[in-house]
Amino acid sequence: MPGAASRPARTALSMIKRIRIAQLREGMYVHKIEGSWLEHSFWRSSFAVKERKVIESLRASGIAEVWIDTDKGLDVAKAASGASATDVDAPSGEPARIVLPGARATLGEEVAAAKKVYAKSRVVMRSLFTEARLGRAIDTGEAEALVDEIANSLQRNPWALISVARLKTADEYTYMHCVAVCALMMALARHLGMDEREGREAGLAGMMHDLGKAKMPLDILNKPGRLTDEEFAVMKGHSEAGYKMLLEMGGGEVALEVCLHHHEKLDGTGYPHGLSGEQISRYARMGAVCDVYDAVTSNRPYKKGWDPAEALKRMATWDGHFDQHIFHAFVKSVGIYPIGSFVRLESGLMGVVVEQNEGSLLRPKVKTFFSAKSRAYVLPKIVDLAQSRSDDRILGPERPDAWGIARVADFLA
Ligand SMILES: [Fe+2]
Repeated sequence: MPGAASRPARTALSMIKRIRIAQLREGMYVHKIEGSWLEHSFWRSSFAVKERKVIESLRASGIAEVWIDTDKGLDVAKAASGASATDVDAPSGEPARIVLPGARATLGEEVAAAKKVYAKSRVVMRSLFTEARLGRAIDTGEAEALVDEIANSLQRNPWALISVARLKTADEYTYMHCVAVCALMMALARHLGMDEREGREAGLAGMMHDLGKAKMPLDILNKPGRLTDEEFAVMKGHSEAGYKMLLEMGGGEVALEVCLHHHEKLDGTGYPHGLSGEQISRYARMGAVCDVYDAVTSNRPYKKGWDPAEALKRMATWDGHFDQHIFHAFVKSVGIYPIGSFVRLESGLMGVVVEQNEGSLLRPKVKTFFSAKSRAYVLPKIVDLAQSRSDDRILGPERPDAWGIARVADFLA
């Protein structure tokens, strides 16, 4: 039948078409955003366009093209003549923001409360680790109450406590790392679509994941230098030591699982059991990402922490280590350029990311304080890349030490 062969086949693929962002209208269904995940990590892979502000936020993110599914939403011609079409080519003032659910306080408003929760965490976790080291019975009630307080802080503002937790000192690393992982786990759970109960279980698991370090020899745990192979082999025992302690105290299933398997890797090269792929539970895979991110970005006695954005960039290249879906959700939860990242702008100015913009993770607020052109400090200034009309944008993360800058954190306050 020659006639049939000339007709376009009505396959699922034929319903997907690429359009310019200027053609995108309410009522369309976005199948895929054009470009790499890193550039547009904020966005779900597919969604219905129900509001004009979604289109404006896509445009504000610098996205030029999208793929639409005309089976699930309007086509270009229909949308153009439809009553609900919105002319986004016309100047629309400041780009609208999408407010994440639960973001009820600004970063500035929440930081003071987050600092209080963090200070309380220090007392509770230091005591919990001390009791564990002494072999005394541990009451996790206070830690569970802390998880609730951290959850409430994240609910009011998703970034305040995570940025405060970056300020841990090297000597309190072991237990404050657990607090940071708790907050990161809960933020990640939300971006994975988990419900509140699952999120809090993930948080408590993060809080307890390194409890076994309380049983490690202090000279190895606090060694001010890199561990030898033998010492590292001893330290690897912390997963199983923590698991046993949690088991004895009647810890929950999720906490037990994360405690035992947060050092497993997707390709089977992790420890203690060399599990691979689906053998590693979802919670343990979440734990692996949050644990590594906080570990590599923290200052240690023998090593300066990596810049947060640089850490994400490097972690993205570690084939076989992390679950990619979970890693991408993690990037959405902390931001492509997390608070505290040192970045270079197209204008030549350099500075530190001080606040995220919910509608566009590519356009955070940056406090500029250095000029790449003159290689000199300049008067600090807050540049809101989502609001700025100067068309400035982030070129990428930079290593502060390469520019002779010792403490980026000094410019965070
Ligand atoms: Fe660990």
